Amino acid sequence: MIRYGDYLQLEKILDAQYPESDKHGQHAHEEMLFIITHQTFELWFKQVLCELGSVIDILGRDYVPEADIATCTARVQRTNRIMEHLVNQFTLIETMTPGEFMDFRGFLNPASGFQSAQWRILERSMGLPEDKRVLRNYREALPEHERELLERVTQGPTFFDVVERWLSKTPFLETDGYAFWDSYRDAVRNMFQHDRDEVMRLAKADGNDPTDAIAQVDRNEAGFHALFDATTYEELRTSGARRMSQRATLAALFIATYRHYPLLQGPYRFIDAVVELDRLVSLWRFRHTLMVGRMIGMRIGTGGSSGYDYLMATAVKQRVFDDLTSLTSFLIPSSHTPALPDNIAARLQFVNEAR
Ligand code: HEM
Repeated sequence: MIRYGDYLQLEKILDAQYPESDKHGQHAHEEMLFIITHQTFELWFKQVLCELGSVIDILGRDYVPEADIATCTARVQRTNRIMEHLVNQFTLIETMTPGEFMDFRGFLNPASGFQSAQWRILERSMGLPEDKRVLRNYREALPEHERELLERVTQGPTFFDVVERWLSKTPFLETDGYAFWDSYRDAVRNMFQHDRDEVMRLAKADGNDPTDAIAQVDRNEAGFHALFDATTYEELRTSGARRMSQRATLAALFIATYRHYPLLQGPYRFIDAVVELDRLVSLWRFRHTLMVGRMIGMRIGTGGSSGYDYLMATAVKQRVFDDLTSLTSFLIPSSHTPALPDNIAARLQFVNEAR
């Protein structure tokens, strides 16, 4: 007969807290909180990896039915709620004062969150590229068996890879004589011409020089056209300004633009959840950094990094889905959005297509 404690392996879990301060005969009351907080974070990381791994498996298949996208969305959204919970969980460790932390910090040297294998697996599974990392020597901080584990479990495609692949298979972008980019490009051109006309009209009415404002409109328009021109787009990819393929990016723009059509609502919700996950991982980094700043100020970390400055840089620079987040800069108001041809609009009403 299965028993509660056996099923949950409570004997193991509840016998896994051994404060270093006690070993040194200098009991520090807050060290138990410090250990349990880290352990619960790591348990939740395990759940996050379980959800993310399953989504990578599903999206990595050659054929992904729309019903599976709903499953993926639910799992990414669950991951988002866990990440949100973890962001809030920092308030628990902040009930410890910096002084109380100082009472046992010295005993922990050189252990550091820098050695969290699960965090590294999470970063790599998300698709954080190595050249975007603020510090590239993270593997050396791990013992041999964890390095092997990291390599082994992150061998396959990343979350970024499968999302990009799934997007690039979006139907309707180019079909029956319709090409999304052509109609969108025309709409963008009309929108900016409308902006220029407005600038000229106001300048004339107020007697102002329109040169600067017109130049700004031109710059905004040039930013848009980089999205449609394959050569310019590839230059952006080479420079690192964009990472996702042009087709996948345009597919995401198509989905965001026509999101009110029934067939695109599911994919739109999924993209939205992915963008939220990227934001929440950054928020986790940022929240951890703020907590670290309060606890140790500008001291260097026990893992040997600069501490606060390093962590803040990771929060700002190590985002994975910038391509999707920045899509909003390319959305145009619905008043300028080109109507879809009737045959495509009709097909988007029914959930009978698969990618
Ligand atoms: C008093 C509390 C804490 C302090 C002072 C602290 C301090 C630091 C510092 C200074 C670093 C940078 C690496 C280094 O040089 O050591 C770091 C990294 C890290 N910490 Fe914490 N930390 C605290 C709590 C936590 C908690 C509760 C977690 C939850 C698991 C955590 C997870 C991590 C992770 C995953 C990293 C690696 C981040 C990266 O390299 O991107 N830390 N921590």
